[in-house]
Amino acid sequence: MHDHGAAMTDPLHTLIRELEQDHTLEQPERLRERVHALDRLEDLLLHVSDARACDGPLRQRAQALHARLSTVQQRLCEAIRQAIKQGAGSQVLHGWTTPGQSPVADGYDHLDALVSDVLAFEEPTDDIASLDADMVFYQPTPARHVLDLIDRAAISDRDVLVDLGSGLGHVPLLVSICTGAHCIGIERETAYVEGARRSAASLQLDQVRFMAQDAREADLSRGNLFYLYTPFTGGILRQVLDRLKQEASHREIRLATFGPCTDIVAAEPWLVPSCQPGSDRITVFKACNA
Ligand SMILES: C[S@@+](CC[C@H](N)C(=O)[O-])C[C@H]1O[C@@H](n2cnc3c(N)ncnc32)[C@H](O)[C@@H]1O
Repeated sequence: MHDHGAAMTDPLHTLIRELEQDHTLEQPERLRERVHALDRLEDLLLHVSDARACDGPLRQRAQALHARLSTVQQRLCEAIRQAIKQGAGSQVLHGWTTPGQSPVADGYDHLDALVSDVLAFEEPTDDIASLDADMVFYQPTPARHVLDLIDRAAISDRDVLVDLGSGLGHVPLLVSICTGAHCIGIERETAYVEGARRSAASLQLDQVRFMAQDAREADLSRGNLFYLYTPFTGGILRQVLDRLKQEASHREIRLATFGPCTDIVAAEPWLVPSCQPGSDRITVFKACNA
């Protein structure tokens, strides 16, 4: 009979030995490698949880290693939280990006793992209201694309960014930390809004507001840069674009988009993109009938 348990413990044994010998993983700057190591450990521990052959000492070594690397992450995260509270978050967060590297489209990486800890995101425990037709479920913009948004739109502390469908608030929180801009998150799901407010309060960010509202009814008069990570499609997107066009008829505004809504926004004759529009990168549009 094939021994599944033993087969599972072998890769765990090899991994643990490899990671135990790599002391560089405890250097704070080895973020990418540490996050990858933690992911691999969690994955393997999960898979051997039912295997009777996974011996106690081996599991204890894996758990000790996981705890040690997690402690390094927690210390790093706390140092960044302190820097944010002292107004130095921008340099610290930009320091974790790879200079000159274009953000690739899909997926989350070590920067998202760090940002999620730094912003103290909580998974909402309340039931989430079901989405109406044309509404898109929650998914955060990957952190490297938020930093790309800041660069491409050259956001400064004179801007007021409005994230339409802001979820747990990644975009307003990161933009405010990195630029000092006033940021407003509009989100229909109350549990997300409450979580985003707690994240802002815990970092003493007083330039960020989160409103539990439908984007079709929200006050758009304060923003000059509106961000959409494909929060809705169809008729809702049409209504919101019409409202933004109305805003643009009497003042200067810009839109920034990410994801599939970019193609629809790019077809609006009153908007001019600052670069070739693409759904896999942030695209910034200027309203031309202002
Ligand atoms: C793809 S997520 C984007 C989250 C966030 N903007 C980000 O980039 O991290 C879309 C969000 O839009 C919200 N949403 C969908 N329809 C909405 C509406 N009509 N008004 C306000 N928020 C809406 C969803 O609840 C979800 O949190």
